[in-house]
Amino acid sequence: MYNLLKGKRGIISGALDQNSIAWKVAEKAHEEGASFVLTNAPIAMRMGEINALAEATGSQIIPADATSVEDLTNLFTQSQEILGGKIDFVLHSIGMSVNIRKKIPYPELNYDYFQKGIDVSAMSLHKMLSVAKKLDAINEWGSVVALTYMAAQRTYPFYTDMADIKAMLESIARSFGYHYGVDKKVRINTVSQSPTKTTAGTGIKGFGDFYDYADAIAPLGNADAESCADYCITLFSDLTRMVTMQNLFHDGGYSSTGVSDKVLYNLGLEKE
Ligand SMILES: NC(=O)c1ccc[n+]([C@@H]2O[C@H](COP(=O)([O-])OP(=O)(O)OC[C@H]3O[C@@H](n4cnc5c(N)ncnc54)[C@H](O)[C@@H]3O)[C@@H](O)[C@H]2O)c1
Repeated sequence: MYNLLKGKRGIISGALDQNSIAWKVAEKAHEEGASFVLTNAPIAMRMGEINALAEATGSQIIPADATSVEDLTNLFTQSQEILGGKIDFVLHSIGMSVNIRKKIPYPELNYDYFQKGIDVSAMSLHKMLSVAKKLDAINEWGSVVALTYMAAQRTYPFYTDMADIKAMLESIARSFGYHYGVDKKVRINTVSQSPTKTTAGTGIKGFGDFYDYADAIAPLGNADAESCADYCITLFSDLTRMVTMQNLFHDGGYSSTGVSDKVLYNLGLEKE
């Protein structure tokens, strides 16, 4: 442990179960000395697993639907009361696409589902930031991290509407990063993570094959949820205080690799 977050106050969204990336971030943030509030959609609370995390990290839970400005206002207001001051870091770890869940192909997207996906997975970041800014709830040099995926830059057919939604999420991080940076020196980044075996991840059609493919391309292999959490902690810490408005790849080198020997040999193309 490095005490990287000693004395810092945070809000961590999206811890559904032990596989969730947010779950690992909460564990690491606790190890690094932070105090924080956990939040998730009221419907996710019913599964009750988050209680174990709250107990293990000494944190309180505030249910909030990330699409509701009212819920988010309550989240930021109450979090400051519980933690005893302004917030230093926020994790946005929220993603949901009904089109993906229902395995609807991209050319045939259902637009009601598409809009829902945008609201839950991208606009929610804008809402969080807007609420926080209005309430002046985040300390100067505070850090906000949202999780994204490389389908925002390159096409992955089975990622359907989430590709477009992640592109919007990354754009919101840049756009809001400007305004919040100028006004309050708050920094906002997205972390573009490897395929990871979580509820959201494994819900994607063909996830297993695609996970193995990415693993075979990346020189370091796929980054797991725990190392993603480590990276998020560095972004919450003061060691990265001049990093903002970036989309940061955390993928074992996947995004910079055209092809790997592993993939070529498996395909038998090395003989040609
Ligand atoms: N798993 C992967 O392969 C992968 C790769 C890159 C990026 N990501 C991103 O990481 C983030 C976290 O996902 P995960 O993989 O840990 O899966 P997860 O299923 O554990 O987490 C997704 C979370 O979103 C929450 N959520 C859904 N609707 C909500 C709402 N209306 N309000 C508040 N919370 C809501 C869920 O309850 C859940 O806790 C997502 O943004 C996801 O797109 C995941």
